[in-house]
Amino acid sequence: MKRFSRYLLGTTAAVLMMAPLAASAAEYPPLATLPPVPVPADNQMSDAKVELGKKLFWDGRLSGNGTMGCVACHEPDLGWGTGGPISFGYPGTQHWRNSQTVLNSAYYYLMFWEGSATSLEGQAPAAAGGAVAGNGDGSMMEMKLRFVPEYVKAFKEVFGTEWPHVAQAWQAIAAFERTIVTDATKVPFDRYLAGDAAALGDAAKRGMELYNGKAGCISCHNGALASDQRFYNTGVPNAKEFTEDELYQITQRWELYQKGMPEADYRNGGVDYGLFHKTKRPDDKGKFRTPSLRELKWTAPFMHNGSLETLADVVDFYDRGGGEGNKVLKLLGLTAEEKADLVAFLESLSMDEPLLMEEPKLPETATWAEFPK
Ligand code: HEC
Ligand code: HEC
Repeated sequence: MKRFSRYLLGTTAAVLMMAPLAASAAEYPPLATLPPVPVPADNQMSDAKVELGKKLFWDGRLSGNGTMGCVACHEPDLGWGTGGPISFGYPGTQHWRNSQTVLNSAYYYLMFWEGSATSLEGQAPAAAGGAVAGNGDGSMMEMKLRFVPEYVKAFKEVFGTEWPHVAQAWQAIAAFERTIVTDATKVPFDRYLAGDAAALGDAAKRGMELYNGKAGCISCHNGALASDQRFYNTGVPNAKEFTEDELYQITQRWELYQKGMPEADYRNGGVDYGLFHKTKRPDDKGKFRTPSLRELKWTAPFMHNGSLETLADVVDFYDRGGGEGNKVLKLLGLTAEEKADLVAFLESLSMDEPLLMEEPKLPETATWAEFPK
């Protein structure tokens, strides 16, 4: 409990902080072991709910065409993402962002690269219904659930209603996602914090010094999640696909149009403006949410468009002082050894093995003879 409140305090402190690089590591919430996962009062956990949520996470019936369940873009053996730079989209469309890992997403209070959802319960319908993701219609998805006898039984047991409601499906999926979290006993850095001095090698220990000192990573990637959940423009270059491939360009323009972007920005079709889409404040152009640095070993490639393939590429990017247009990073001038040390430390924030999971057996839709009349 003590650790949990420190985590919350740390988050508040980070929200109040400005000018990332001006301050020393002591001013930021230190990296720490993750507290127990936060659970909202109106969606308590139970084994039956988590088991139902797992099936629904895999179930294509929660999508438009029956094939685009959550797992399509969040595969356990691809770090709970797609393993590629920019995610594919709903058949016939193209997505425009890198599929984020679902691992530890339960710890964010702002989901997505531009922070446009505030809970897992609110995120799930946006994913299942989004035209470039699941493209499912809410009432149609609900109807499909009502004709699966095993689901009718399971929803009744978990939620106490006669028939499945689609909002309950999002609650069950969120409960399942709250189990897709890091196991600290498998993370070298967490074992080190727990007192096992040998859990980190010398390179990782030197990397940790750099992280908290000269390299300044701690100013944004701080607290237990290694994310302050704020937004910065680090100058990650635009993905060239948007100006070379018409399906990407169509998605880009469609997103900008949906989000009510000013005409000039809409016409400049190759740029992902990040947080600006949400706030419409020119200062927010190119800002994206600081991602967690936990489990990076399993979740390459990196950044909102997956444009950096390896952790060494990421460290090189920061060493150069980030990309064009950023106002928050400065040249680091690290030696080759220092860069390798930093990578070793980043790797120590991941579990020794990926979190894999067996595919659940999905229940059948009732035959016409069994249809509830
Ligand atoms: C077509 C691919 C696709 C499908 C299907 C899909 N997702 Fe995603 N998911 C993504 C992409 C891409 C992002 C990042 C989008 C962005 O930031 O704009 C994302 C982001 C997320 C996040 C945010 C993680 C974070 O760090 O903030 C969660 C949680 C998530 N998805 C869960 C789900 C769930 C639950 C479903 C099923 C209901 C689902 N996704 C279906 C591609 C997909
Ligand atoms: C000013 C804040 C800030 C600082 C300082 C900073 N980062 Fe980041 N980091 C971000 C943001 C914001 C992103 C997402 C950028 C994007 O996708 O466009 C990011 C992305 C990353 C990613 C990609 C993770 C993923 O899942 O895609 C890694 C790895 C990373 N940073 C490591 C580091 C390291 C190592 C340092 C220190 C050398 C560092 N960062 C310093 C804000 C920062």
